[in-house]
Amino acid sequence: MTPDPTGRALLEQLPPPLPADRIISLNQPKADLHTTRTYAWNGWTFDVPPGVFLPGWTSRLIHERVLDGRIETRGLRYAAMGVGLGVEAVAAGVRGAREIHALDVHPQSVAAATRHYRRLVGECPAFHPAVSDVFDALPEGVQLDVVTFNPPAVSQTVSDDPDVVRNVCVGAPLLATFFAQITQKDLLAPGGEIHVIASNTADLRALVQHALDHGLRPRIDHLHDWQDGVLTYLFRITHDTPRTGGQR
Ligand SMILES: C[S@@+](CC[C@H](N)C(=O)[O-])C[C@H]1O[C@@H](n2cnc3c(N)ncnc32)[C@H](O)[C@@H]1O
Repeated sequence: MTPDPTGRALLEQLPPPLPADRIISLNQPKADLHTTRTYAWNGWTFDVPPGVFLPGWTSRLIHERVLDGRIETRGLRYAAMGVGLGVEAVAAGVRGAREIHALDVHPQSVAAATRHYRRLVGECPAFHPAVSDVFDALPEGVQLDVVTFNPPAVSQTVSDDPDVVRNVCVGAPLLATFFAQITQKDLLAPGGEIHVIASNTADLRALVQHALDHGLRPRIDHLHDWQDGVLTYLFRITHDTPRTGGQR
């Protein structure tokens, strides 16, 4: 194994998806999705409106890194793709991000993220919430230094409830659109980084292949073994060749 595999070496290192029945049993939807729930993290309490994704351990692998700067947003232009409840946007606001684009296809998630941001960080011109199918609603000319995405990448359809599908199991094709838009709209600033998290309940090789297909360079930043067969990968994805210019 090379110390920092990318390209074909990375693809070969990634595990295939777990068996379908195992993926389905691991991702059984909770009966309370259509109720108002609460979520507590880092001394903050969030109400979670019906249909909004309740953050789990995978979410927290991103949230804690945004808050402590292992995923650095301080002074940078940041997009939280699929922001859901808004925890990573709040963490970036507290950290001191220069611009925060809080994007989600689900209007109630964007409304919740906005409410929580204003309550916990304050009224702030740097905060730009938008209901957006991937990056569709991002104004032209926006450039991003940091993007995070905890996508609904599970490869099996675990429910016919559209809210469950949107939160959990759209699958790897969503990542094809995500990376395509990043390149076609030239969203990633020179030196910019995309952080995508997914496990072997998703088709990791397809996900990484989509990044490669769009001229990006994915690497494994962190691997978490849950000791039950589930392996979660946090990928750090950059331009394939270093670019110069632009402002960080
Ligand atoms: C697994 S949840 C992650 C939520 C939150 N970021 C977290 O980690 O707790 C996935 C999120 O992606 C959003 N989503 C699904 N499809 C989307 C799309 N096409 N464009 C933007 N957001 C989407 C869902 O609404 C949901 O909020």
